[in-house]
Amino acid sequence: MQTSALGTWPTRKRILFVDDDPVLGRVYASVLQSESHRWEVRSAASGRQALDLMAQMPFDVVVTDLRMPQMSGIELMAKVREQYPRTSRIILSGVRDQEQIARALGDTHQFIPKPVKLETLRESLARICSLDSLLMDEKLRALVGHFGPLPSFPALYLEVMHELADSEPSIVRIAEIVAQDPAMTAKMLHIVNSAAFGLARQISSPLDAVQHLGTGTVRSLVLSVHVFSSFNGKVEGFSIDQFEGHALRCARLARALMESQGEEPAQAEDAYIAGMLHDVGKLMLATSLPDRYREAAAYAVAQQIPLHAAETEVFGATHAGVGAYLLGLWGLPAPIVEAVAFHHTPTRSDMPAFGPLASVHVANVLDGEQSTAHQPMPLSGFNDDYLSTLKVQDQLAIWRGLAQKINSVPERNLLS
Ligand SMILES: [Fe+2]
Ligand SMILES: [Fe+2]
Repeated sequence: MQTSALGTWPTRKRILFVDDDPVLGRVYASVLQSESHRWEVRSAASGRQALDLMAQMPFDVVVTDLRMPQMSGIELMAKVREQYPRTSRIILSGVRDQEQIARALGDTHQFIPKPVKLETLRESLARICSLDSLLMDEKLRALVGHFGPLPSFPALYLEVMHELADSEPSIVRIAEIVAQDPAMTAKMLHIVNSAAFGLARQISSPLDAVQHLGTGTVRSLVLSVHVFSSFNGKVEGFSIDQFEGHALRCARLARALMESQGEEPAQAEDAYIAGMLHDVGKLMLATSLPDRYREAAAYAVAQQIPLHAAETEVFGATHAGVGAYLLGLWGLPAPIVEAVAFHHTPTRSDMPAFGPLASVHVANVLDGEQSTAHQPMPLSGFNDDYLSTLKVQDQLAIWRGLAQKINSVPERNLLS
């Protein structure tokens, strides 16, 4: 068994690097060669050679350069997606050409900007491989396979991240990036102006949103709106309004909890994103497999067990695993993926410190407590062993107060 920040993965992973520059291919391969118990590395100098190798043996991950003669990285990824849908697909390239990136993302799970630090590359691959441990068994993998192609990583989010990485990020430029996508803008303004967001005044434009909410919140929204709209469509018995309301309140509460514990702003922002996306697997299951999802909900009611326990019975996996799988493929930071993966089962984490996972676990339960709507099945409760390991039980009364505040009076100061 191998260990990583996200847990363990049981078998050696086979990685294929594709680059027409043989020197670069060797450099990438060398990053992993020292850990040959974890990885088996092959390299190919062209897309054709890569496909020939893939026909001979299965690969877990393919990492390719974008610009190559004859077959480009984009063409290769499209073929890999079609012929080997279970193989994770990563493109490495310079970030300047936004149009090419946007096209490449359609068939790619992750885009890693060049020049890449070798350590970053190793971490990205480790994160992708550790997803297998999140899947627990082949059942979840097969389940995710039923969804059809998973949505690609949002190009707009990448552009926002790129602008934020600038030494002087421009609010106007970030607003312009968001405004490029009218559907995204409309949905984002709809969410921002919903009651659950808690704003005291109407936000009417992307610029207004960035100025008022701050770049961190807008970045989270761009990501969340993309995920939420990738799985849309009406599903009987599933309320998208309730889903989004719960997501928004959990995001705000998770961030407020991090702040109350004196955590760093960057960590608090991770908790906000994790809170927003923690139940995205529900949306994926409800829209992709509506009949079986209704079956799981009915089973939870009949047995009077929480939904995630019923999902395990019906699907062999839970919405937490499904959602984390998608976010992990996209290469979101490990603390976010971990918080989503274990928000109902936090003792499965091997990092027993207060962080995004703890704050999302607590926020999810507290938001459920606040709900006045009739619940046909029991809601998920606190994991007492986990809270006592963290030594935070005496904080619960204060945290409950925060949850009440978020649920009642709109608090603008909780947003930025
Ligand atoms: Fe959940
Ligand atoms: Fe939840």
